[in-house]
Formats: sequence, C-alpha cells, structure tokens
Amino acid sequence: MGAEVVVEGLTKSFGSTNIWRDVTLSLPPGEVSAMLGPSGTGKSVFLKSMIGLLKPDSGKCVINGVDIVQCSERELYETRKLFGVLFQDGALFGSMNLFDNVAFPLREHTKKSESEIKRIVLEKLEMTGLKGAETKLPGEISGGMRKRAGLARALVLDPEIILCDEPDSGLDPVRTAYLSQLLIDLNAQIDATILVVTHNINLARTLPDNLGMLFRKELVMFGPREVLLTSDEPVVEQFLNGKRIGPIGMSEEKDSAQLAQEQAMLEAGHHHGGTEDVRGVVPQIQPTPGLPERQGDRRRKDRVMQMMHTLPAPAQEAIIDSLTPEEQRHYGVRPRSLVGAGRSGASGNPGSAGNTLPLDTSDAQRGQLPADEVASLPQQDWNAQTQRMQHRRDVPPGQGGVQ
Ligand SMILES: Nc1ncnc2c1ncn2[C@@H]1O[C@H](COP(=O)(O)OP(=O)(O)OP(=O)(O)O)[C@@H](O)[C@H]1O
Ligand SMILES: [Mg+2]
Repeated sequence: MGAEVVVEGLTKSFGSTNIWRDVTLSLPPGEVSAMLGPSGTGKSVFLKSMIGLLKPDSGKCVINGVDIVQCSERELYETRKLFGVLFQDGALFGSMNLFDNVAFPLREHTKKSESEIKRIVLEKLEMTGLKGAETKLPGEISGGMRKRAGLARALVLDPEIILCDEPDSGLDPVRTAYLSQLLIDLNAQIDATILVVTHNINLARTLPDNLGMLFRKELVMFGPREVLLTSDEPVVEQFLNGKRIGPIGMSEEKDSAQLAQEQAMLEAGHHHGGTEDVRGVVPQIQPTPGLPERQGDRRRKDRVMQMMHTLPAPAQEAIIDSLTPEEQRHYGVRPRSLVGAGRSGASGNPGSAGNTLPLDTSDAQRGQLPADEVASLPQQDWNAQTQRMQHRRDVPPGQGGVQ
C-alpha cells in the first residue's frame, strides 16, 4: 500500500509574498487525489514543497514518520525515493535520449544490471505509448510525448507516491483519457498514493477519489470527490464550468463592484464564456477489466462511510448513489429516493443544519477494516468552511477579508 502523506499547517512565501498558508490535508494511502486551482495559486509550489525541493516557512509534511520540512538531508534523500514525480515541464535531460532519461533514476538509485534496467525502461515506455521512440532526444518529440516520457521516468522506481503536475497539459483529449485510465490502472496494480494537479475538468471529475482546490492563498476544500463536485460555491462552480463570470479574474480575484457589473452584463445576455453546466457527480473511471480491484477504492468506501455524517447532504446523496445495492445494504444506507417523506434537512443546501441523510443504523457496518487501518482526513467542519467561503464572497479583497 502506498504511503500516507500528512500535511499540517503548511505555509509558503517567497520573500514577502505569501503563496498559500495553513494548508492541512492528508493524502489517503493508495487513493487517487487531485488538486484544482486557478493558474498561479501555487499548485506547483505545493508539489515541490511536498518533496522538499522548496522549503515551506512553517508547518509539517509527514511521510512514513519523517517530516520532510524539518528532516536531515539524509532522511530527505531516502524519503524522496518513495516518490515518482512528473513535473509540469516534463524536466527531461535535453542531451539524453528517452531511454537514458527514463533509465536515469534506476542508474542513480539502484544497483540493477543493464539488462534489468532495459527490461524496466522498455516496459514503462510501452505503458506510456512510447515504444519505438527510445532513441529520440526530447527536442525531437512532441510536447505530449515529452510529458509521457516524464511519466515513464516517474514510474521506474515503483514509487509509493506519485505526484503529477498537470499530466494532461499538451495532450489531446483522447490521450488525456488514456492517461487517466493509465493512472487508475497503475493505482490498481501497485496501490500507490497518487496526487494529480490539473486544470482539466474532465480529468478532475472522472479520475480522483478525493478532490481539493487552492484559491486565494488557501486550501478552500479537500475531501471526497463528491463534496467538491456537488458544491455550489461560486468559485468552485466558476472553475468547474470554465466561466469568466465569478470570483476568479484573469490575474487576480475580483472585487464586489466588478462582480456586480458582470452579473448585469450576464443578465443582459452576454456570454459567460463557459460551455455547458458540468456540475454533478459522474461515474469514476474503473480499472481496465482483468486488472485487480483497486484496494484504495475499497479502503476509501470504508473511510468515507465513517465520515459520512460530517459531509454536506448533496455529497452524502452522491456517495450513496455511487454504491452498489449490496454495498448500500452492507453500510446500512439507502438512496434518497427510497428514504421516507419524514426525512429531515432535505434542502440540499450544504451547511444547513440537520442536513445529514438518515442512516439506517440498525444493521449498519461502518467499515470492513479496523479504524486504524483506514486513513483519516483531517476532521473538516464543512459548515464552518461554507461560512468562511461566504465571508470571502462578501468582503472584497483588501478590505479585511481572507485573501
Ligand atoms: N522559485 C520561485 N521563486 C519565486 N516565486 C516563485 C517561485 N516558484 C513559483 N513562484 C511564484 O509562486 C506563485 C505560484 O506559482 P505556481 O507555479 O505554483 O502556480 P500554479 O498554481 O502551479 O500555476 P499554473 O496552473 O499556471 O501552473 C507564482 O506567483 C510564481 O511566480
Ligand atoms: Mg503549475
């Protein structure tokens, strides 16, 4: 099983410029997580901080008991071996062909024979659709191929944790779909903990178990995918739908006067820039038939059912709907359509009091695994979070609000 990554109160600045602060989340072991966020919000800086390439000002990032913010160089070196990282720019060595680029970590960190290295490199190149391109230099191949070569290199050490910074950028939609499938298949095969940073909404909706978003120097949400995908927060809704109208501006957040002006234009029939309304939860990609069941998926179900009562009602509904009838029976929950008219708090409004779906607790089993084998996300108070978002919406930047 992949390692858990526990991030607590992480804060990063460059000089006097704060990038984000007090970021707290856990990447559950062996699950796939994704981080969304407008350009420039510090997603790449976050990934680099997680592997100790950048040093946060304060906070912790603990992997297998080692806090990479405070640890020694030696511990950092050892802990980094657990990671496979696909950097945003691919970060290939320009003077080495693809074979040598992909072989590099094996030659650097292992004592494997050249014939063993060749077997592994060719396997990873084939996996990422690059068979036959091993003698090409990075400058001789397309941007998408460079990206895939970066992914092949990230995989050669059989990492416990895979970080991918915008793996889809430079890829066409079909290759992006293949890449999502590849990540899910990989997860099924090696049970690695995966974090993907992306702008790609389709990928964010179909790939991860958990979804988060960085905005205005904070982690505004991180949790089961259903929470973000059913959220009606303006910033989430704007981002998921790719609209100009909303709190996210071209270079910075908008103030209330700008928002009001936009709203007036929208009401007068001006196009919002988005295409269709893509809110809602769609089915998650499954491993290719014939591959083993994802252990992370099984653990996630247990984990999410344990925290169910803390989630907003729309997320609870989406989670229950995603379960098979057998799983619903096993966990003692029923879809909304089957719940009697006496159900309380059916407003669908996250943050409203009493919004939990009544669970049939008589025969409920809240998990198949012992609690200490189920990763816990930091206890999130979604109501408090919703109020903070509301506060951000009401107070324009620079006027005492959270920025
Ligand atoms: N080494 C550095 N020194 C100083 N500032 C930096 C450094 N690296 C990043 N920054 C700044 O940190 C901010 C966040 O950058 P980052 O690359 O993490 O954004 P991002 O969310 O990944 O954006 P994108 O989606 O466009 O990739 C930017 O303002 C950037 O200029
Ligand atoms: Mg980036």
